[in-house]
Amino acid sequence: MSDTNQQPGREVFSSRAAFLFAAIGSAVGLGNIWRFPYVAYDSGGGAFLVPYIVALLTAGIPLLFFDYAIGHRFRGSAPKSFHRLRSWAEPVGWIQTGVAFFITIYYSVIVGWALLYAFKSLSQPWGDDADSYFFNDFLRMDASHLMTLDFVWPITIALLVVWVLVIGILVAGVDRGIGIVSKIFIPLLAVLFIIVVIFSLTLDGAAEGLNALFTPDWSALKNPTVWLSAYGQIFFSLSVAFGIMLTYSSYLKPRSNLTGTGLVTAFANSSFEVLAGVGVFSTLGFMAMQSGVPIKEVATSGIGLAFVAFPTVISQMGGFLGGAFGFLFLLSLFIAGITSLMSLLEVVVGAAQDKFNLSRSNAVLGIGGVMAVIALILFPTTSGLVSLDIMDKFTNSVGIVAVAIIAIVVVDWLLHRTEELALHLNAVSSFRVGNIWRICVANLTPVVLFVMLFQEIITLVDTPYGGYTAGQVVLFGWAVLAVIFIGSMIMTIIPWRGEQFLAGPPGSDFGVRTARKLEARPPKQAIELDDTAATTKEEKK
Ligand code: PFF
Repeated sequence: MSDTNQQPGREVFSSRAAFLFAAIGSAVGLGNIWRFPYVAYDSGGGAFLVPYIVALLTAGIPLLFFDYAIGHRFRGSAPKSFHRLRSWAEPVGWIQTGVAFFITIYYSVIVGWALLYAFKSLSQPWGDDADSYFFNDFLRMDASHLMTLDFVWPITIALLVVWVLVIGILVAGVDRGIGIVSKIFIPLLAVLFIIVVIFSLTLDGAAEGLNALFTPDWSALKNPTVWLSAYGQIFFSLSVAFGIMLTYSSYLKPRSNLTGTGLVTAFANSSFEVLAGVGVFSTLGFMAMQSGVPIKEVATSGIGLAFVAFPTVISQMGGFLGGAFGFLFLLSLFIAGITSLMSLLEVVVGAAQDKFNLSRSNAVLGIGGVMAVIALILFPTTSGLVSLDIMDKFTNSVGIVAVAIIAIVVVDWLLHRTEELALHLNAVSSFRVGNIWRICVANLTPVVLFVMLFQEIITLVDTPYGGYTAGQVVLFGWAVLAVIFIGSMIMTIIPWRGEQFLAGPPGSDFGVRTARKLEARPPKQAIELDDTAATTKEEKK
């Protein structure tokens, strides 16, 4: 059997460590640092850990395995993997790619801000009014226009730097770019962030901050919204079900312990989240004490936390100490952001590379270049915050949730392929999955996600998001969703270029039967069989 027709070597992560750090780098992002602490505080404090852990075990980890299984078994980017599952399922992969496309472009500008603010911490140009500085001096925000082409130059340059960096990393390759950078940046991030947290614990008022965060409000557990928030947080934070983990696992060697690695990723991600909670609330405790107000008045999340509250604290500390603390915090945010950004961009690059049979560098430079230009037109302008805010809301609250439901419904409800994925996971992994896993993925998760989506859509239809004008919300919100959806159909219709193995059932080598055979063999052979399945079919073409 020759494998001359085999797709010229799909790249692989050379070691488990490279993949593991890349997966952790993807999961640990802005969401961990600026989203978790406030969500936990706002949803029952210490008591939130209960729904959080339940959501982690019943949705986060099961979906992580689900993503890993699809990417690894079908060895392709999202569209290719879904095409291999069944050709009509290809649009699901493109919807995932589309969601990643839009998240990548706006996420990149926040990473750029973090880079600029890290350096600004050293001189603290905001004085004692970080709020007005951020919106008026730094962003020069103008919410009254749909779109201005009035560029804010420092942000434009920072954004350009971010794009040059990620494009450079991705051109270097999956293993030599993403793998190596993750192996360096993630341990570095851990060290920097632990220093930030330890330092924050020594601040006056830290204890009050931690009490505010961790004092359990058990009555919150009776509130369904708190449970939904827990699922929402886990879902966002682990980067599951929209192509990222699927794409990364497609670069794993055939013999890879998927579930074992997944458990480590999930555990590391949650540990980082709790650590961020400690650091953020100790700091907010200090801020409350300095300003003489209760914690609830300073508690915040997102952009307000990183670019207003933290800078305020930095000035309150003042001098060298404030500068060093701010620099380390914002640098951590930058590192956490850029490793997630690489993974988001890789979803789009991988998809383009597969579909058009491109070399890695052409795919990265081509598609990355186009995305960089779009990001540079939309976000570093005076109207950039408006488009960013709306796009973030719609891609996250609607896009990610909807595509996760669609993926589960297609793979399990319509194609009945979850068993095959379970067999695949068990054939290659240490930790075995069974019926409970399937129930979590196929029954429980879609129901929870559907309730979340339904509520969000009702609210979004009811009141224009964030008090923006209808034009702004339609253009950067609803139209983006429409583009993702229509774009996925168009991309599916375009033929695959080059000789590619794309076949799916009926009669293909994928399916429960092969998976069963695979499971019955000792791991090494099992994988060889799995690989040959792909090659043989290709040869027949
Ligand atoms: N999980 C990463 C984070 O928490 O920031 C990456 C990410 C997930 C970014 C989902 C954006 C997103 F919508």
